[in-house]
Amino acid sequence: MTGFEFPGEYYEIIRKDFRNLEVESSFFSSYLPAAGRVLDLGCGTGTNLRALSDLGYACTGVDQSEQFIDFAMKAGGDIEYVHCSAADYETQEQFDLIYAVFVTLNYLKRDELGRLLAKVRGWLRPGGRFVVDIGHMLNFADSYQPYIVAHHRHEGILITRLIRHAVNAHTANWRHEETILVREADGRVSMYDNFFDQMALTAPELRQLLKEAGLTVTEEYGSFRKEIPSPRGKGHLIFIAESVDGTSS
Ligand SMILES: C[S@@+](CC[C@H](N)C(=O)[O-])C[C@H]1O[C@@H](n2cnc3c(N)ncnc32)[C@H](O)[C@@H]1O
Repeated sequence: MTGFEFPGEYYEIIRKDFRNLEVESSFFSSYLPAAGRVLDLGCGTGTNLRALSDLGYACTGVDQSEQFIDFAMKAGGDIEYVHCSAADYETQEQFDLIYAVFVTLNYLKRDELGRLLAKVRGWLRPGGRFVVDIGHMLNFADSYQPYIVAHHRHEGILITRLIRHAVNAHTANWRHEETILVREADGRVSMYDNFFDQMALTAPELRQLLKEAGLTVTEEYGSFRKEIPSPRGKGHLIFIAESVDGTSS
């Protein structure tokens, strides 16, 4: 079983039902100088990067899915893509904005995340920002359903996702097992599996990990429209962090 190894065009259809690219691009742009440099950790099919590249930013994306990176490379744009785990990514470059969204950092193991955050601090240009959109404990508790059936439609294509969730409270691990069925407009059918584990981080835990990495949280939002986080602690939680001393290490 694999995680996120299915054709990128199907992921693009699924993600449209959850996301607003325009709002996200304007959110990211608000932290970027003209022609600034961007790093997307867990860039998937490169959707956010293509939009930012069109706005004139210099973009790099890292993802461990071979099929998603392949889709991203073929989708064009003057964007550098690196196929590896974010935990293993190394670079001498520095960036004005580094982000990991749509709960991407939850795929790392706890010790990998700590090491990555320390590297992120070193990759930030002076005044640079790190944006992280995590799946925190309550998101997981809230959206927990043992079985989910979801349908996504686009230009005659029907994608049906059969999902099973399992939570291990002792390890704070969230397991996602998914069968993806695709019926093309011409009736052809294909099937893929998508299996992954995610850390059910708590927000205080992530604040602490950021602090230990020398990053300080300067803003917290409940959405990419910069709404304040829900007082009941539900929904998105987006942290904006900077290097503690405003410079890179
Ligand atoms: C829910 S998708 C989000 C993709 C993209 N950020 C977006 O907003 O559409 C999660 C992505 O994280 C990637 N991923 C999972 N574990 C990873 C890791 N250790 N390093 C890099 N990418 C990873 C998957 O391949 C997948 O593309």
